[in-house]
Amino acid sequence: MKKIPLAYDSALLEYSNIQRYIEWDYDLHPNLAILGNSGSGKSYFLRLLLGYISIYAGKNPKAYICCFKNELLKTDAPRFWGYKNVIHGLEQFKNEFENRLTGNPCRDFRLLLIDEYVSWLASLESKESEKVKRDMATLLFMVRSLNMHVVLGCHRGMAADFSHGSRDCLNILFLGSPSKESIRSFCSAEDAEMIQPKCRGAGYTIFDAQKPIGITVPTVKDMDKLDKAILKLVSD
Ligand SMILES: Nc1ncnc2c1ncn2[C@@H]1O[C@H](COP(=O)(O)OP(=O)(O)OP(=O)(O)O)[C@@H](O)[C@H]1O
Ligand SMILES: [Mg+2]
Repeated sequence: MKKIPLAYDSALLEYSNIQRYIEWDYDLHPNLAILGNSGSGKSYFLRLLLGYISIYAGKNPKAYICCFKNELLKTDAPRFWGYKNVIHGLEQFKNEFENRLTGNPCRDFRLLLIDEYVSWLASLESKESEKVKRDMATLLFMVRSLNMHVVLGCHRGMAADFSHGSRDCLNILFLGSPSKESIRSFCSAEDAEMIQPKCRGAGYTIFDAQKPIGITVPTVKDMDKLDKAILKLVSD
């Protein structure tokens, strides 16, 4: 089974105090976008997800972690890129993708995580940002069968940030109070009505354009342990 815990099902938690996880079937839904306002808990959630990946993503999982705001990790690591270096993380992930596409038989879990993806795009010259969008579209369309995955953290996101229809290759997590424009860019008008503003660490998943499901992000018990698990994913 190719499943990784994401966050608690809010309805079970609220109605009967049952802590049951909504899972990420990463074979069926290879790529995720996490959208939410500032302080909604996107980076906190992404760190927790990395911790779960280190345990549940099969043998020898590795991550390429990029964070335009230079957060997520406190120390330097071989596969961690911040601020102006985010492009190098994307390029190295693309290299491994092209290797697999052209014969490398390795199918161990690989993740490209870019936090503050849309802010990073906005910081680039338009020619460079168009190239990044094109490369990202190729990855989003093609990584699944290679057991490679893309997760993007975004303050806001519009259809235009994901060119060539690649937005349809992203399954969505909303956290906190995402903007109305972001919500409408990623779900039908009917589903958008169901997305209510939530507090930090709470939101919705939308998989395969199904109905939104309420989620609650658990609180991390041991940050040092989580840091170590994340560091292992980005070190050789
Ligand atoms: N589920 C949670 N349980 C406990 N604390 C949390 C939770 N989620 C977030 N926090 C705390 O809330 C604060 C804001 O979270 P975080 O930095 O992840 O938000 P963000 O959405 O990434 O914001 P920004 O867009 O500004 O980067 C942090 O101090 C974080 O530790
Ligand atoms: Mg953040």
